[in-house]
Amino acid sequence: MAVVSSAHSTIFSKTSLFHHINGFKRFSFCLPFSSSTVASLSSKKKWRQPVASSVLELGGIKIAKDDVVRDDPTNNVPDTIFSKLGLQLHRRNNHPLGILKNGIYEYFDTNFPNMFHKFDDLCPVVSVKQNFDDVLVPADHVSRSYNDTYYVDSQTVLRCHTSAHQAELLRRGHTHFLVTGDVYRRDSIDSTHYPVFHQMEGVRVFTPDNWEASGLDPTSYAAEDLKKSLEGLARHLFGAVEMRWIDAYFPFTNPSYELEIYFQGKWMEVLGCGVMEQEILKISGRSNSVAWAFGLGLERLAMVLFDIPDIRLFWSTDERFTSQFSEGQMGVKFKPFSKYPPCYKDMSFWINDSFTENNLCEVIRGIAGDLVEEVSLIDNFTNKKGMTSHCYRIAYRSMERSLTDEEINDLQWQVREQVQNKLNVVLR
Ligand code: DAH
Repeated sequence: MAVVSSAHSTIFSKTSLFHHINGFKRFSFCLPFSSSTVASLSSKKKWRQPVASSVLELGGIKIAKDDVVRDDPTNNVPDTIFSKLGLQLHRRNNHPLGILKNGIYEYFDTNFPNMFHKFDDLCPVVSVKQNFDDVLVPADHVSRSYNDTYYVDSQTVLRCHTSAHQAELLRRGHTHFLVTGDVYRRDSIDSTHYPVFHQMEGVRVFTPDNWEASGLDPTSYAAEDLKKSLEGLARHLFGAVEMRWIDAYFPFTNPSYELEIYFQGKWMEVLGCGVMEQEILKISGRSNSVAWAFGLGLERLAMVLFDIPDIRLFWSTDERFTSQFSEGQMGVKFKPFSKYPPCYKDMSFWINDSFTENNLCEVIRGIAGDLVEEVSLIDNFTNKKGMTSHCYRIAYRSMERSLTDEEINDLQWQVREQVQNKLNVVLR
C-alpha cells in the first residue's frame, strides 16, 4: 500500500453520507441510556480488565479512568485507548508532530502576526453536540455510529475531529484560531491508520467591512482568502510544489475543497477546507459574518515530510526513533534502524450480522498492541446456506526488535480465543 496517500483521509468528505467546564471541575457525564444500536463488541459484558483508578488532567478538566472506560453498553472505549489520553504528542517540541505543529504556527505568525489564537490543550472528551450537531453532521452520518466513534456514554465521545471545537470557540468570542489535538477513530489496522491521531483546525472570521471594500460577495471573498492562505501554508511546508484544488463535500462548509500537492511523484491530499456553513456562525452568535475553516491530519503530513514509514512509530519511545528529531528541525529524514521481519498468521471464521472489521481490529490491538502492523481481509465467500466466511491475514512486526515464534504463537492463540468469545464468530 502507498504509505502516505491514505493516512486518515477525512471521513467527512464522502458525499455518500456521510461541557465545556471551566476551571478544575471533575468531568461529569450525562446518564447513559440503553441502546440497541451498540456494536456487539461493547454489548458483551465483563471482558475488560478491572479498571485501576488514575486521574488525568486535560485542559483543566480532571478525568478518572472509570469516567472514560466503563463496563456499560453505551461505552466502547477500551483500556488501550484510555492509555493514550493525555499523552499529547503534538505538545512535544522535539517530536515530529510537535515540530510540524510549530512549523505551521510559524507560517501563521509570520504572515498574520498576532492574529491567530492557538489552542492545543482542549479536552478530547466532548459532547455529541460539540462533535457532531454543532458542525451540522447529519443524524444518519456514518461517523456517528458506535462502529466508527468511541463513545464514553450516549451523549459523550472522544472527539473524532478537531472541528468539534469550532462552534464553542466562536461562541466564546474567538474569530481567528488554530486548534491542535489528539482525535480518536475506530478503524482498521495498517501502516497509515491508528485509532488515535492528531489534527489541526483553523478558522478565520470576516466582518462586512472586510469584504465590502473588495467588491466581492462574502462567500467568494472568504474562499479567495482561504485559498491564498492555504497555498502559502503548503509552500511553507513543502516548498515550490504544484498544487490543485478539488471540489469536496463536508457537512460544515460550503463550498468545500481539498488541497492537493504534487509530491514525490504523486498527488497527495494535504487538507480539507471551505467556507463555513452560515448556520454554524448563526448558532454561534455571528450571523453577520462569513468565515473559512480548514482541517489537516498531522501524521499524514509528518509521514511524508520526515519519511516516517509506519504510523505506529509516532508512539515509539525507542531512543533510536526519538533521538532523530529535535526542536525546530522540520523535515529531517528519518533513518530506519533496520527493518525487523514480519510474521503472518491467517485466521478464518464464519461471521455474524453484527461483525465489523473495526471490532475485529479493536480486539487484536487489545492483545497485540503496536506489535500488529496490518490486518487484511484475504478471502471472503458465502456458502449455499448463506453463511459468510472471512479469512484475515494478521501481520505481526515490531518496529523495535525481532519477535520470537513463541511470542507470536502466544499472541495468535489469544487473538483466536478472544475473537471467538467477544465477537461471537465461529472459527473454521
Ligand atoms: N473535520 C474534517 C475531518 O476530520 C476535516 C475538515 C474539513 C475540517 C473541512 C474543516 C473543514 O474545518 O473546513 O474529516
